[in-house]
Amino acid sequence: MKEKFKILDEKRAEAQVGGGKDRIDAQHGKGKLTARERIHFLLDEGSFEEIGMLVQHRSVNFGLDKKKFLGDGVVTGYGTIGGRLVYVFSQDFTVLGGSLAEAHAEKICKVMDLAMKNGAPIIGLNDSGGARIQEGVVSLGGYADIFYRNTLASGVIPQISCIMGPCAGGAVYSPALTDFILMVENTSYMFVTGPNVVKTVTNEEVTAEELGGASTHSEKSGVTHFTSENEIDAINNIKRLLSYIPQNCEDDVPSADYKHADENRLELDDIIPENPNQPYDIRGVINGTVDSDSFFEVHKNYAENIVVGFARLAGRSIGIVANQPAVLAGVLDVESSKKGARFVRFCDCFNIPLLVFEDVPGFLPGTDQEWNAIITNGAKLLYAFSEATVPRITVITRKAYGGAYDVMNSKHIGADMNYAWPSAEIAVMGARGAAEIIFKGEIKSAQDPDAKLKEKEAEYAELFANPYNAAARGYVDEVIKPHQTRDKLIRAFSMLSTKCESLPKKKHGNIPL
Ligand code: HXC
Repeated sequence: MKEKFKILDEKRAEAQVGGGKDRIDAQHGKGKLTARERIHFLLDEGSFEEIGMLVQHRSVNFGLDKKKFLGDGVVTGYGTIGGRLVYVFSQDFTVLGGSLAEAHAEKICKVMDLAMKNGAPIIGLNDSGGARIQEGVVSLGGYADIFYRNTLASGVIPQISCIMGPCAGGAVYSPALTDFILMVENTSYMFVTGPNVVKTVTNEEVTAEELGGASTHSEKSGVTHFTSENEIDAINNIKRLLSYIPQNCEDDVPSADYKHADENRLELDDIIPENPNQPYDIRGVINGTVDSDSFFEVHKNYAENIVVGFARLAGRSIGIVANQPAVLAGVLDVESSKKGARFVRFCDCFNIPLLVFEDVPGFLPGTDQEWNAIITNGAKLLYAFSEATVPRITVITRKAYGGAYDVMNSKHIGADMNYAWPSAEIAVMGARGAAEIIFKGEIKSAQDPDAKLKEKEAEYAELFANPYNAAARGYVDEVIKPHQTRDKLIRAFSMLSTKCESLPKKKHGNIPL
């Protein structure tokens, strides 16, 4: 038996070193961790159980029969994060460039299937040269097997992808189908076609980093939700993200320890500037309302005129969507609508109650917006809120104008509780624009048209730039002082914690994609 143990120990030791010491050194030389080191830092100490350590590929083409590595370039298994079960796969760039082929894909599919059957998140740590070129079509088949499972798992278990090296070609579509993508600055990139192909086809000169690096995807395309300075930061972000999310779509949201106190946050009373056209940072309102240090922003650098993220209120996870008056006056445009809609749908999939802070002057006008389909994209946000069945609360801090009033989780599209601060202005449009239209003739024929416009603007503002017309009709449930917000929300979310609502029977809706 001892001899047999020895064989097993040797195989295990061989698997541990992946592509060998030189390649591990090269990996470290690029500022990257190995597949196993990443798992070590991600999971609770000692919790990792590996599956398929001895798997090998079956290909004989192009000398591959002499290039076999135990594990076939991906480490897979399960473990815990903060005591909660997760499944993980971690591609090993030291083995054939982490390239994906038949056996490698089968290992990933196996843990995805287990994650689905057992209702726990799946985390992919991607570092791969893409389809294993020597294995041909089975590599493509392997990708499609994963894409299919990503799609079936969507909305059932949380799926998180962390890009820690190359992710190119069709390989990008697995992360794209998952709920969240994280990238590491300077060492990861994602693109469908690389700089060489881009140069050939469009004659553009671009580096890999410019084309598909972490900052490009966090600021320009919005493909990635988080960017990190290094791999350890990225891993810590995965852990923090998971702390807000339930294990699956039937699980309750996580709750952190919390001692209830009637904390009035007096600083909120001074946050809205006297001048309604002056910007302020909505993050001040968010942080002033939620549990201290609990706000975790998602998509921070993308479409900054809307702020989305997770937080805790009296210990329980919530999702926050907030217009950001400090950027573009908080208007809704194509990108912010898409960003908001995607986040709302994630929260609704996983039973995370939604809190909206609203200060929106309307949709952004212009040919750029119209030609880039602000109609279709704005409708995404409207649709996402309308079909969300989780507890939903809106707080109107200042402007709620035009169609944007309806879209931003209004009572009319199913919000459960709507509050407004005394500074709220709820109307079809701003006072100046309204006066220019409805008193056009009167202003034109006046002796002093400017003075007339000001007079009419003031008249309209007096009548409509307040929360009381909406409150009189019950569109707003209560007008509250800002410092009361936290306590009101804690009570209202607690009241809504047993909310049970379902959509009309259907196969699935047809969100305007
Ligand atoms: C097989 C691969 C590989 C691949 C890398 N390797 N990518 N082997 N199939 N796709 C191997 C290399 O041959 C090399 O082996 C080792 O991994 C390390 O690669 P290097 O090139 O030395 O590393 P580096 O200089 O860091 O460059 C990394 C890289 C480059 C930029 C990823 O390897 C590269 O361009 N690879 C090809 C990428 C690609 O075109 N993939 C197919 C995309 S299409 P040795 O033994 O020589 O050290 C695709 C379709 C998916 O993925 C479709 C799904 C629907």
